[in-house]
Amino acid sequence: MAFVQWDPAIYLRRAPERARPFFELVARIGAEPGDVRSVVDLGCGPGTLTASLADRYPAARITGLDSSAAMIAGAPAGDRLTFGVTDATTWRPSVTDDVVISNAMLQWIPRHPDLLTRWATDLRPGAWLAVQVPGNYHAPSHATVRELKAERNLTTDEPGPVLDPAGYAERLPGCVVDAWETTYLHHLPADGDAHPVRTWLEGTTLRPVVAALPADEYAGLAAALDERLHADYPVTGGHVRYPFRRVFVVAAKARP
Ligand SMILES: C[S@@+](CC[C@H](N)C(=O)[O-])C[C@H]1O[C@@H](n2cnc3c(N)ncnc32)[C@H](O)[C@@H]1O
Repeated sequence: MAFVQWDPAIYLRRAPERARPFFELVARIGAEPGDVRSVVDLGCGPGTLTASLADRYPAARITGLDSSAAMIAGAPAGDRLTFGVTDATTWRPSVTDDVVISNAMLQWIPRHPDLLTRWATDLRPGAWLAVQVPGNYHAPSHATVRELKAERNLTTDEPGPVLDPAGYAERLPGCVVDAWETTYLHHLPADGDAHPVRTWLEGTTLRPVVAALPADEYAGLAAALDERLHADYPVTGGHVRYPFRRVFVVAAKARP
């Protein structure tokens, strides 16, 4: 598959909002922290959240893997921290992995539920799998991006639809599953020329579009997007309220 041009600086512009689901996901992993020896974070991005796992798991080797060399280029250093470039679609859990995490990555992989089933099958008994995916495929923001691409006959990688919590629970054989969804209401400051939802999308969903179009064509698409976003997400008191649904799955592989 083609990999989109990720940019850690742009992605981290809304770091607190993007970090919160990660911590809410990790908080539900029931492994005894002192017993954990190996943690893998798939689609780790800039690695800042991955590095926080070294504090939660004080005896563990923490491995962050991402398909984008640019994303991990500035990842934090640490004795127990390792980062590498890997495509999650070909990765498989090893018998030594105690905790496998993937935060906000699987929506980029077509048929990702099949991948989750494979990971759950390969996990050793007693290991944990924790996944969070954005569930806003049908939100006006994402539907508008798809419309604008269709109007230009532009085909690029894009985040796909995700399952609901029950759908994921059914796809994890041999696991005890805790799955839920949350809709965050982000309060984005309208402090620039661009609509703040466009600025948000430029960290993720719009990356392949930015990469595919010459600058002037992207500027035209961005102007049309801003106009439609203003209708769906009006600025009030200098801010925009942006609802953002996320689906969480934490699975413990049952012991025989
Ligand atoms: C939205 S970012 C999430 C980064 C990080 N997990 C976080 O929560 O901040 C998605 C990341 O998934 C990575 N990614 C996308 N497809 C991937 C794949 N097939 N294998 C590994 N990483 C992938 C991207 O490079 C990007 O860094």
